[in-house]
Amino acid sequence: MLVALIIPLIESVRNGPSILIIGAGPSGIAAATKLLKNNYTSIKIFEAEDRIGGRIRSVEFGDAFVDLGAEWCHGEKENIVYDMINQYNVLRHTNLSYKLVYSNGKYIDDDVYQALIDFADSIDASVTNEETEKNCQGLQSIGECFQKQFNASFTKRYSTDSGKLKLAVDSADWLECYMATYDSTFSLQDLSRRSNYKRCEGDLRLNWNGRGYKTILELMMQKFPDTSKQLPLDERIVLRKEVTKILWRHNNSKVVVQSSGNGSDEFDHVIFTPSLGVLKASHDSLFDPPLSVEKVTAIRNFGFGATFKIAMHFPKTWWNVSELYGFVWSAEDEKKITSDFPEGPFKNGRSWLTTSTKFFQAEHNPKVMIAFFAGEMVPDLEKESDQVLIDGCMYLFKTFLGSNYSVVEPDSIIRSSWYTNPHFRGTYSYESVKGGSGSRYPEELGKPLRNEDERPTVLFAGEATHPYYFSTVHGAIESGYREADRLINLYSS
Ligand SMILES: Cc1cc2nc3c(=O)[nH]c(=O)nc-3n(C[C@H](O)[C@H](O)[C@H](O)COP(=O)(O)OP(=O)(O)OC[C@H]3O[C@@H](n4cnc5c(N)ncnc54)[C@H](O)[C@@H]3O)c2cc1C
Ligand SMILES: *[C@@H]1O[C@H](CO)[C@@H](O)[C@H](O)[C@H]1NC(C)=O
Ligand SMILES: *[C@@H]1O[C@H](CO)[C@@H](O)[C@H](O)[C@H]1NC(C)=O
Ligand SMILES: *[C@@H]1O[C@H](CO)[C@@H](O)[C@H](O)[C@H]1NC(C)=O
Ligand SMILES: *[C@@H]1O[C@H](CO)[C@@H](O)[C@H](O)[C@H]1NC(C)=O
Ligand SMILES: *[C@@H]1O[C@H](CO)[C@@H](O)[C@H](O)[C@H]1NC(C)=O
Ligand SMILES: *[C@@H]1O[C@H](CO)[C@@H](O)[C@H](O)[C@H]1NC(C)=O
Ligand SMILES: *[C@@H]1O[C@H](CO)[C@@H](O)[C@H](O)[C@H]1NC(C)=O
Repeated sequence: MLVALIIPLIESVRNGPSILIIGAGPSGIAAATKLLKNNYTSIKIFEAEDRIGGRIRSVEFGDAFVDLGAEWCHGEKENIVYDMINQYNVLRHTNLSYKLVYSNGKYIDDDVYQALIDFADSIDASVTNEETEKNCQGLQSIGECFQKQFNASFTKRYSTDSGKLKLAVDSADWLECYMATYDSTFSLQDLSRRSNYKRCEGDLRLNWNGRGYKTILELMMQKFPDTSKQLPLDERIVLRKEVTKILWRHNNSKVVVQSSGNGSDEFDHVIFTPSLGVLKASHDSLFDPPLSVEKVTAIRNFGFGATFKIAMHFPKTWWNVSELYGFVWSAEDEKKITSDFPEGPFKNGRSWLTTSTKFFQAEHNPKVMIAFFAGEMVPDLEKESDQVLIDGCMYLFKTFLGSNYSVVEPDSIIRSSWYTNPHFRGTYSYESVKGGSGSRYPEELGKPLRNEDERPTVLFAGEATHPYYFSTVHGAIESGYREADRLINLYSS
């Protein structure tokens, strides 16, 4: 009798507290691997999807891995992803020539393109620009500042060149989508001019050389570069297990977790990593007792949107592999879309075909082209059939590139559905105007729930909990390590 009681006790002391990590994205994998390396072996991951990786999703397509989620390592300084992978010589600079093409099939002059990008940078929230500060004083959103400044800025710049002025003015819609892509907002009107987001220095577009961003997960799990050293994590991951309720003050010792299939399990601690989108939709039903007013306010007011990606495989390479294309409609040609290609979503008279931001070849994948779309039509695009997407892209290719290239139809496509998928409900977080001037919402989102004796029971990791690297993989990984350390420190003190 005594032995029967003591053995589990000794087990629990030897293996440390029982810890459940919800979600096997980069933050969950980071937390799990750090705990394992510190001899916390009584850990589990419940993952709702049938795969690990979360918003890292590298799919074998064509000749290499293509990323439907995170794609680039953003920066080289103080970037944990870069620091971890650098010695293995995997990352490559993305070496593409950026080309804007007009709907008459001609390149838009490089200096107009550069002026547009400079304009975007000048109103970016993570950059301070004196002139913008003066001109956009009192305006909350990037969108308002854009509208106030755009025509004024280009009318001044091209006062003696009406041709370039027209090109620039016609490029405004493309530029809005381009900017919306960066923060994955549906509307620049919701994107705050004040943000604590910090760009890492160095190349912001380091690619994974056809191996996929998943390589960082393999590295953390010690499957890369040498499988024989892998951590004993696979057997601790339960796939297709969706957590539906977290009873965090059930009694004073354990957290009770209910999940799909009517399972119910108890843990000493839970690390919660699902996206801000999941929290927005389900915090009410997920947490019992409910979350604090402060946390709910942060969940409501921090921004979360989506972008849409398509990867297209062609029977042959027909484009110029060293170019990345952005397509700009002339005001006149745009009017023709309604009759020439009425399929797919329209909003406020604008076709989805005006919301593409870039087309470029995937690395080490000469027959695969990646396309990005942004803005408020993304949720509708996720629901469109493959055929409408293919037909629409073919219409774009013929219009913009058809005079110089023999365009052929893709033979297969893969596509993202981050907004529609209930385990994500979008792509990544951003500072919305609802937060006022640079909120502290990520810090609030990262605060643990504590029981009566102040012990942290439910901990929060995930990109949206990082004070200045939110929205990125490096932010997600740092947040996972942070919460693992919180527990390690708790038990070592
Ligand atoms: C299209 C796209 C492009 C991106 N591009 C880049 C980029 O180039 N560079 C960059 O640094 N970042 C990029 N990101 C952002 C990056 O992917 C994310 O910041 C990062 O993956 C977030 O990791 P996470 O662990 O916080 O969350 P996630 O990766 O979302 O992991 C959370 C996990 O929780 C699971 N889950 C959800 N609900 C439940 C539940 N109820 N029960 C159990 N499990 C659940 C989910 O299935 C998921 O696997 C991109 C994201 C997207 C979608
Ligand atoms: C983990 O346990 C091993 C074997 O008992 C020991 O050698 C190692 O030092 C421990 N590591 C930590 C971080 O405690
Ligand atoms: C990148 O582009 C530069 C200049 O166009 C070229 O010199 C270099 O070889 C390219 N690098 C790769 C890896 O293609
Ligand atoms: C196509 O070629 C013409 C003539 O050389 C050139 O003016 C135009 O910019 C090119 N367009 C593209 C998209 O390459
Ligand atoms: C700029 O001016 C054009 C033409 O007068 C107008 O149609 C457009 O809406 C303006 N764009 C912005 C961003 O204000
Ligand atoms: C806490 O609740 C669980 C689940 O109902 C129960 O098994 C356990 O004995 C309770 N512990 C205490 C200390 O009440
Ligand atoms: C879970 O329990 C409910 C009610 O007891 C039952 O209706 C449902 O079928 C169960 N679901 C599963 C997957 O067992
Ligand atoms: C492909 O694009 C590059 C960069 O714009 C250009 O230098 C090169 O001449 C193009 N090649 C062909 C065959 O058009």
